[in-house]
Amino acid sequence: MLVIVTGVSGTGKTTIGNLLAEKLHLPFFDGDHFHPAENIDKMSQGHPLDDLDRVPWLQTLADKLTDSEKTGGAVLACSGLKESYRQKLNVNENLRWIHLKGERDIIWNRMLARKNHYMKAGMLDSQFATWEEPDYGLKLSIDQTPEEMLEIALEYLIRNPMKMAVGVMGMGVMGKSLALNLAEKGVPVSLYNRYVAGKEEAVAQKVMETNPDFANLRAFEDIENYIESLQAPRKILLMIPAGAAIDAQLDTLIPLLEPGDLVIDGGNSFYKDSERRVFRMKEAGLHFLPMGVSGGEEGARKGPSIMPGGDPEGYALVEDFLGRISAKDQSGKPCVTYVGQEGSGHFIKMVHNSIEYGEMQVLAELVHFLRFGFGCSAEQVSGILFDWGKGEQKSFLLEITADLLLFKEDGDLLLDKILDQAGQKGTGAWSLNTALEYGIPYSPLAEAVNARGVSGEKTMRVAYSKTFRHEFEPVKESLETWLPKIKYAYSLARIINHEVGFRLMKTVSDAQGWKLNFNEIARIWTNGCIIRSGLMERISAYYSDDQSFFEIAGVKEQVIQNRGDLAALVGLGLTHGFALPVMSAGINYLLGRITAESSASVIQAQRDYFGAHTYQRKDDLSGQAHHTLWNTSFRTE
Ligand code: 6PG
Repeated sequence: MLVIVTGVSGTGKTTIGNLLAEKLHLPFFDGDHFHPAENIDKMSQGHPLDDLDRVPWLQTLADKLTDSEKTGGAVLACSGLKESYRQKLNVNENLRWIHLKGERDIIWNRMLARKNHYMKAGMLDSQFATWEEPDYGLKLSIDQTPEEMLEIALEYLIRNPMKMAVGVMGMGVMGKSLALNLAEKGVPVSLYNRYVAGKEEAVAQKVMETNPDFANLRAFEDIENYIESLQAPRKILLMIPAGAAIDAQLDTLIPLLEPGDLVIDGGNSFYKDSERRVFRMKEAGLHFLPMGVSGGEEGARKGPSIMPGGDPEGYALVEDFLGRISAKDQSGKPCVTYVGQEGSGHFIKMVHNSIEYGEMQVLAELVHFLRFGFGCSAEQVSGILFDWGKGEQKSFLLEITADLLLFKEDGDLLLDKILDQAGQKGTGAWSLNTALEYGIPYSPLAEAVNARGVSGEKTMRVAYSKTFRHEFEPVKESLETWLPKIKYAYSLARIINHEVGFRLMKTVSDAQGWKLNFNEIARIWTNGCIIRSGLMERISAYYSDDQSFFEIAGVKEQVIQNRGDLAALVGLGLTHGFALPVMSAGINYLLGRITAESSASVIQAQRDYFGAHTYQRKDDLSGQAHHTLWNTSFRTE
């Protein structure tokens, strides 16, 4: 999107150019600032420039325009007096001209009023003499207010649209928010939403109408016009539901696209589907980027964490745009990185969500136990969580949980009116399936999925609670004594959740040869995403691929010191009638992982006993299989 505002000196090119740039969310360049020193000297001495003087200056401006277009475009103010000068700036068809026109006397008076400008009013006549009237572009009279001029210019640009840098398909919550985020960061965007009579009509148009500050949006519901509106190579971001809808959309898009175009799937697709699609698109000569996006509606609008994988050449086409719209880490670096081959971007987003499930469930367990076991009010629990959030435990999920405990509706806590049946869209269960497929222990995060499943059986739970006379038993012990232990238990349960998720990522990465960079993954999860936290900052700073997660500085100490607290809290909860599935599974998982002499000898003996499955012996390290005829002669009566 390139706009050049021309006109003789004093017509107000800078004012109009700036106003336009603001509306189009593009950078503004004043051509005057790019003159070489010799030209400025010459003009300051009252001598007009000749054609030869202007050659290097126009070349600099043309280069600036070409460069700007790669990052979304620019508005340039430049006198452009002669047709030959304008042709040097006419870098491509995606450029619009706005020529400012006015009476010599009005301009003369304005110039006399201008201070500190090297152009002297006496040179105006030479400018008028040099001016060659163009027969294209908008002729905009300066005999009106800048606001009126801006309105006419914007109307002209709508009637004569330019090609847009990126297309977003699907104007649901995430699609709309990402599109506006792009537009705000200076990326001209074509919006598309399908037409479904009576249900989805003029959806993209409405997004434009409700966001009048963005003059860098165009709206479509006809797919061919939409594709036509995009600058080559086209960059299309799909923000539509995962699953069959993605394949159906690719079926429609492939014949309409040209080799080298890029399609990005920014939804929560299953990574194996993404892998298949990468190959399919490659065969069609197209780039495909399966890309995880985390942060919910607000993140998408203001700065999400972005996890693109797949085709590295495709990534190069949008790296700059993604960097602009993403959240920034503590050092100001964008929370986006090229994750790796195939479906690895969607894979890590899936595991991110699995950890998210675990983190949410631990908080839910704690809130419930504190309220109905320890008898705390919602406000008290909120205060406890807020306090924790001020220190090392800070996390986005902790913060929103502390918030929601204060939210009232008609004087009552909204939370208590929300039906206790948790929804899920699949990412948690896919992670669990993947862990099973790779033989990775996953019980803590598996329990977060199972807990949502159990919550869904509301009718049965209500009936069983009567049948089996279940009630929460109030905890009689002092909250004050327990609170530090609960905090340590919470901290350790979170460490376990993260270890489980990172271990799954490492295992699959090794098996697939993806060479995932875990410091970098943790870094892009330190901001923007749902599981951003102080712990993630620690992981990002201290975790290296060849180091065991539990040995990260500060984590190791907690594993040693806090496991008693987690075990005690789980024990207390269970004996008072509280299901604490993730925390229970967490402490079991941890104890299992750090136990040198486990109960598995019993399993091996049982297997050999009933099925001659053989076992290995501690006193024979050769790997040899042993079998025993387990007769019952040793039984005692
Ligand atoms: C995110 C979220 C986002 C979505 C979850 C909800 O990272 O921004 O994870 O992707 O809100 O997928 O998933 P469930 O509906 O399965 O809880």
